[in-house]
Amino acid sequence: MTRRILVTSALPYANGPIHLGHLVEYIQTDIWARFQRLRGHRCLYVCADDTHGTAIMIRARQEGRTEEALIADMSVAHQRDFAGFQIAFDHYGSTHSSANLEICKAIWSALRREDLIVEQDVTQLYDPEAGVFLADRFVKGTCPKCGAAQQYGDNCDQCGATYSAAELIDATSTLSGARPEMRTASHLFVDVERRHELLEQWVQEPGRLQPDIVNYLKGHFLSEPLRQWDVSRPAPYFGFEIPDAPGHYWYVWFDAPIGYIGATAEWCQAQGESLQDWWRSEQTEIHHFIGKDIAYFHTLFWPAMLQAAGFQLPARVQVHGFLKVNGEKMSKSKGTFVHASTYLAHLHPSYLRYYYASKLNGRVDDLDLNPEEFVQKVNSDLVGKVVNLASRTARFVQETGLSPQYPDDEGLFAAAAAEAEEIAKAYEAADTARAMRLVMALADRANEYIDRKQPWALRKQPGRAEEAQAVCSVGLNLLRQLAVYLAPVLPDFARRCERLLNVPVRHWDDVKTPLRGTAVAPFEHMMTRVDPKAVQAMLAASAEVEPLANAAAAAEPPASVSNVHAGASPPPRRTPAPTNASTGTPTAKSAATSATCTLEDFERIDLRIARIVAAEDVPEARKLVKLSVDLGERETRTVFAGIKSAYSPSDLVGRLVVLVANLAPRTMKFGVSEGMILASGEGGSELFLLSPDEGATPGQRVR
Ligand code: 2FM
Ligand code: ZN
Repeated sequence: MTRRILVTSALPYANGPIHLGHLVEYIQTDIWARFQRLRGHRCLYVCADDTHGTAIMIRARQEGRTEEALIADMSVAHQRDFAGFQIAFDHYGSTHSSANLEICKAIWSALRREDLIVEQDVTQLYDPEAGVFLADRFVKGTCPKCGAAQQYGDNCDQCGATYSAAELIDATSTLSGARPEMRTASHLFVDVERRHELLEQWVQEPGRLQPDIVNYLKGHFLSEPLRQWDVSRPAPYFGFEIPDAPGHYWYVWFDAPIGYIGATAEWCQAQGESLQDWWRSEQTEIHHFIGKDIAYFHTLFWPAMLQAAGFQLPARVQVHGFLKVNGEKMSKSKGTFVHASTYLAHLHPSYLRYYYASKLNGRVDDLDLNPEEFVQKVNSDLVGKVVNLASRTARFVQETGLSPQYPDDEGLFAAAAAEAEEIAKAYEAADTARAMRLVMALADRANEYIDRKQPWALRKQPGRAEEAQAVCSVGLNLLRQLAVYLAPVLPDFARRCERLLNVPVRHWDDVKTPLRGTAVAPFEHMMTRVDPKAVQAMLAASAEVEPLANAAAAAEPPASVSNVHAGASPPPRRTPAPTNASTGTPTAKSAATSATCTLEDFERIDLRIARIVAAEDVPEARKLVKLSVDLGERETRTVFAGIKSAYSPSDLVGRLVVLVANLAPRTMKFGVSEGMILASGEGGSELFLLSPDEGATPGQRVR
């Protein structure tokens, strides 16, 4: 029976680039959706950018542009990265869309109708300079339990204590550096407890959730009354204003999951399909793929909202763990926080698709990326077993094509076809690790057959050409079975097999019928080995140098280049600055250069070419100009530069400059400065920005 399936991945936030951690989920979901289509089911895969909230508002403010401009750029960047990894969404939308707004309104009205909305006052920290209420992650201070400095507003990473942001000692806002104050505002809540029974039943239905998740929900939430869920934020907030509560905005987590429906609505509109069929029909199975950190949103609040508004509830929520690298959290300084675009600049997407598939077992466990294992697995399985089968057989049958009758193969083809349901079961359960093991066992058997038969030797023996053709026909048919089984994971490889054998891969059942007599195209390389040097280069390109907190204090800036960072106070010096003996003021021109540094010291400073895309005066500051600089790959930074005395903003736009890209961000009264541009000279009108020669482009590293 043909199933109608709607599948989603969590909507990525529009305030950062896609990285390898995100890709665990998108690759997992894409494999699952492709598998369903190959089985002949209707499967719609939708996603969107998650665009609302304080973080986006603040970032847009810092970059001196509108939220709409920021999220438009991020959407392009996200979609480009996903396409690079062959993630085939049917539709990619945005939560900031009219389609989404309409669905939000419909769900809100239903919640009101069901009398599930309650209003309550909330007292929270407020940043009087930035003019916003502060979520916990925007507050830092001293841990009230152990006294560790610089801890975030919800928990201490030194002693593990959890607390409310208001309990922090000497709290400051990370947005402006101001001391937050307590303010009260009214918020709107969903009374989820009124759906307790429904949820209790829903989470326990077989096949709905993984057992670990059911236990987690029962242990942490369902064993007591569910707390009311705060779904509004007071102005200013980037989001949708609640129609019947002016001045209140839906909290980003309210309209984010609704974005699944909004994206489907846009797709339906474009395709002439009915949204009712996809979201209000029992004939549709809804499958959400998500990470473990957001399981309770999708398994408590979300089904409660859907039920109240008469939408179909998810058939299944498939939860995965986090990505670790070498057993540790991804780390910028260790180079293990790899952006999707950086990976793609060094390695083929098929490698990662296969590697993740071989590790994902359908459980909630974290997944470890080990670079040595990555190289070894891809080279030994994909190149050594699968591609090898093609390269050892295809070239010998280019003139003859495959045998007109499928030859005796000692039962290999039938045995591989008989595995179809077992492999399908593993895919269905999102246990691609098992699916890959089963497929690689088939590849081993096929290779063992070719090893024994040695077609390359047979064809040289007089009168045995036909036998050689038969062996190669078997080998290529076994290869095609592998290509079909691997097609959800390796669509690119499946396409190459199609070209080689001149027959498309259309359906899972293609594994059941061998090809006979078809032409074989000239053999083209199907996949090259992973070069471990490319992996190292990718990690090196991802390594951000640790902020030079103390090192910066120790090092004198090079004599001929003065820093124009942010108008910040000069770094404390470990040795007194050279002074002019007669006046006691710093020497006008330092003749001597600083103490030598090693190449490694120099390499720690990440200098990049950047283009100034916007510049504005900061009227309250004596020296500062606020710059937006383009750093390539769609990254834009805000830099406050102390160059007002020598440059007016209108002279700056369009210029290429040199940026210290890994300088720790600095929070100033006017916003956060995210780097430093280089200039020479002593200040005043004696300031000269450094410019590269013609041809340099934003993002290039300066060495
Ligand atoms: O955790 C996140 O990155 C969220 N942006 C996921 C939202 S998923 C869904 F609810 F939209
Ligand atoms: Zn502590």
